[in-house]
Amino acid sequence: MARLDPHSYADDSHAQTASLALTARVDFTTKTLDAEATLTLEEPSAGPFDLDTRDLAISSITDQDGTALPFLVHANEAILGARLAITLPANTRAVTIRYRTSPEASALQWLEPAQTSGGVKPFLFSQCQAIHARSVVPLQDTPRLRITYTAKLTIPRELTAVMAAAHRGREETGTTAVESFEMPQPIPPYLLAFAVGDIASRDLSPRSRVYAEPVMLERAAYEYGGVDAMIVAAEALFGPYDWERFDILSMPPSFPYGGMENPRLTFITPTIIAGDRSLVSVIAHELAHSWTGNLVTNANAEHFWLNEGFTVYAEQRILETINGAESSELDAAIGRRELDESLARFAKQPGLTRLRTHLEGIDPDDAFSAVPYQKGYFFLRSLEGIVGRPAFDAWLRTYLADFRFGAITTADFEAHFEAALPGVLAKADSRTWIDGEGFPASAPRPQSERLVVIERLDGALPDAAVAAKWTAIEWCLYLESVPRPASRELCDALDQRFHLTASKNYEVLVAWLALALHSGHHAVVPRVEEVLSAVGRLKYLRALFTPLAKDPATRPVAERAFEKNRESYHPISRQLVEGLLRDARALD
Ligand code: BES
Ligand code: ZN
Repeated sequence: MARLDPHSYADDSHAQTASLALTARVDFTTKTLDAEATLTLEEPSAGPFDLDTRDLAISSITDQDGTALPFLVHANEAILGARLAITLPANTRAVTIRYRTSPEASALQWLEPAQTSGGVKPFLFSQCQAIHARSVVPLQDTPRLRITYTAKLTIPRELTAVMAAAHRGREETGTTAVESFEMPQPIPPYLLAFAVGDIASRDLSPRSRVYAEPVMLERAAYEYGGVDAMIVAAEALFGPYDWERFDILSMPPSFPYGGMENPRLTFITPTIIAGDRSLVSVIAHELAHSWTGNLVTNANAEHFWLNEGFTVYAEQRILETINGAESSELDAAIGRRELDESLARFAKQPGLTRLRTHLEGIDPDDAFSAVPYQKGYFFLRSLEGIVGRPAFDAWLRTYLADFRFGAITTADFEAHFEAALPGVLAKADSRTWIDGEGFPASAPRPQSERLVVIERLDGALPDAAVAAKWTAIEWCLYLESVPRPASRELCDALDQRFHLTASKNYEVLVAWLALALHSGHHAVVPRVEEVLSAVGRLKYLRALFTPLAKDPATRPVAERAFEKNRESYHPISRQLVEGLLRDARALD
């Protein structure tokens, strides 16, 4: 028996699933899926077969002939969920599990009509990364094992279902509709994804379409209009796009992430719809995952930097093609700041500042930070710096080709790089990067004239003429560079001169509100409360709840805001804010 993923009961000595056939009735009244999942095995098998589940009510398990199979649902474990142990008789080819999900399923958010942009119809979406797929389907929930799948979702007739898969048709009968999907490319289970709601669509190019609630469609279509240029740039860098379509689902505001790279259908927060395409780097990031992450996948969450560090690097290369090198350097400087914040946050858990982590007993959601993203990015950038761009690009292409549709560990990456470019890892001091804590002093530094202008200000009030030319990114860099607490005069002057509290750009707005809160500038509190009610993106909840809860004067505001919004926050966001409030109370 060997479990190679600390976050899954999947066992190497057991049968492996090749494909999944899922049928589910989506019940908005009970907030459950009434479902049947058939797992077809790689080869006829026998003996123990362990699956991952969380909060599933299992009613029966049968084999390919309909013969009932003995099974045991073990006690629920806090991080892993409940092991479902099945015993396969000789020559089992497929297992069919009938079950119902819980209204509390950690991968699902069920929105009341009032929580959507349109306000009339309910909405449901999934978010399976890192280990939430098991709350929707009983399966071997580890990225080491890829599956293809088909799915049939029965939904209320007035709604539409979308899935990160090919759509194979819709049939309406009475008050329901059945939507069929097929995912021909094998995926790790965390990329299983769907949404159901009042969803319309518009074509952006022959291979891209945006899906959104009707009231958001036009704005979303404008914001994402540049997507094909990104795909063209990415293919030139990384090779052909392997997933046929790159569609985008504009999510309801409670979506906890900026984006999620669900294959063929990337999920994107509506907070990037600024009206001027200034925040579309998130699209470049999720598109880049089509190569780094979705084609070459981390074997488990301990190697998450292989997904995210490579993707930040690839995102930067796409953006550099489109916007030029200077703009990329500013993005890298923002990344550096986010990294410093995460390093500070993990002062008492320095193990989580390594690239290659050890996560036995740690929930991947709790380990989440900018470390795998930005430390990973700077590591790859330093390797590129040593070998030069042409050699690095040539290696990257062979890496993507050799591990295509595979799952790898950090050691696999190292062996591959060493074979192609011997001695370079040692020269880059890769052991320190990979297994060391913190950030190496030798790391490359972002270089840009525009950055120098901001650094020279040293947190002083910028001239109106200088700031008039700033992009959103430069505003964020400036606001984050202001030493905290900032003086009352500076806060007043900033807001009067630049109307930051009224900014339509969420990155700028939240950077400003966080600075103001850290500075005891309570005039922004009403706007902070509005933002906390309007969006559920983790990054913003963390940035605002942290200073709000830390300051005894605004702690009650934080507690009230959480009480008011907890029901509309995603389960993952709720868990984060609960932790932040608990930590703040512990400071008393
Ligand atoms: N795959 C991640 C989101 C994710 C990571 C979800 C881990 C669950 C667990 C996605 O690609 C991502 O990195 N999103 C970023 C945006 C990006 C521009 C850095 C985010 O949500 O902030
Ligand atoms: Zn990512």
